[in-house]
Parts: sequence; C-alpha cells; structure tokens
Amino acid sequence: MNDDSKQEPANFEFTREFLKTAQSHIKKYPKNRQSSAVMPLLDLAQRQNGGWIPKPAINYVANLLGMPSIRVLEVATFYTMYNLEPIGQFHVQVCTNLPCWLRGSNDVLNSCKKCLGIETGETTDDNLFTLSEVECLGACVNAPMMQINDNYYEDLTSETTENILFNLREGADVKTGSQIGRNSCEPINGLTSLQHMKSNLIVEDG
Ligand code: FES
Repeated sequence: MNDDSKQEPANFEFTREFLKTAQSHIKKYPKNRQSSAVMPLLDLAQRQNGGWIPKPAINYVANLLGMPSIRVLEVATFYTMYNLEPIGQFHVQVCTNLPCWLRGSNDVLNSCKKCLGIETGETTDDNLFTLSEVECLGACVNAPMMQINDNYYEDLTSETTENILFNLREGADVKTGSQIGRNSCEPINGLTSLQHMKSNLIVEDG
C-alpha cells in the first residue's frame, strides 16, 4: 500500500468500475429507498480507498444516495467493519465474544499482541498489520477465530495464530478456515446427524 492511501484525500468519487457496482446495489431497492444501499456502498468506498473511509467518501456516498451525510456517518461509526482511519495491509480482527472467549480467544489475542508488538487499535510501524478486538463474527462453532481482511481463520491456538501472522508477513501461502483440518463447520469427530439419517435409511430400505 503506498503512502498516498494514508492521507485524507481532498475529494472522493468512485472509479467507473466501482460506480457500476454501486449502481447495481442501488437498483436492488425501490426508487425512494436508495438509502438502503448505504452499507454496500460504504464497503465499496473502503475497498477503493485502501481499507478505510475518508470524510469526502462519506459525503460522496450521501450525495449518491440522496441522504444527509450525518446518517451515513452514523452507519459508518456503528459497525466495526468500517475503518475511518488508515489501517495496515492486514486488518487482524480477533473475536473476543463469549463463545470465542470460552474457547481461548485471550490466548489468540495475546499471541497477536506478542507476535506483532502492538496493542489493539494500533498498526505496526511497517504498516503491515492493524490489530482490532471485535464482537461475534458469526463463526462461533469453530471458535476461537479471527478475521484478516476478507478471510476467516478458525479453531485457533496460540501456535497457529503465530504461524498465520508469520506467514502473512513473509508473503507465504496461508490456509484459511479451520486450522485443525475440519471441513467447514462439521463436528470435529466426523459427521453425526447425517450418519444417523444414513443408518435409518438403510434400516427402512432393508
Ligand atoms: S463468538 Fe466469536 S465468532 Fe461468535
């Protein structure tokens, strides 16, 4: 990421490609309900601007949707997925909500702090990593977990957390999803309910 993306730009507007995507979101809603597209448009603005939303982008999205800037700002400040300040190339978001906490999110968070040498809310000096603590990200069944940019990393331990961060720093391939080899969010010890259904079908057929 170059340093320009860290400065607040004087103006903001979508590139042709981003505008096309924005218009496809706006079209999903009735004519006088365009403001319903505010969340995907803020997400687009953040992606175009290198991971954060500057003030001119808030005003631009407001104009595009015909809504007051303060209402767009209200949305942008409510959700942790929107960054209103520059962030590092990798945004490490550790879930510390109850299920993740019960499964060891303190260890995951402490490993991130130790490995990156920063506290939550901080960015490393090389602008590679920003560390955040967030609420439930909807992957509790594979807790503890963290999100880095658009990817989820699940079933974490201190060791796997440090390996992931190390490999990202080195530019190496990093496995996403469960780090203990389970398929998606299936039970750790293999299928249970589907196996049960399968044996019932065999009995009925027999
Ligand atoms: S509590 Fe961490 S993903 Fe739900």
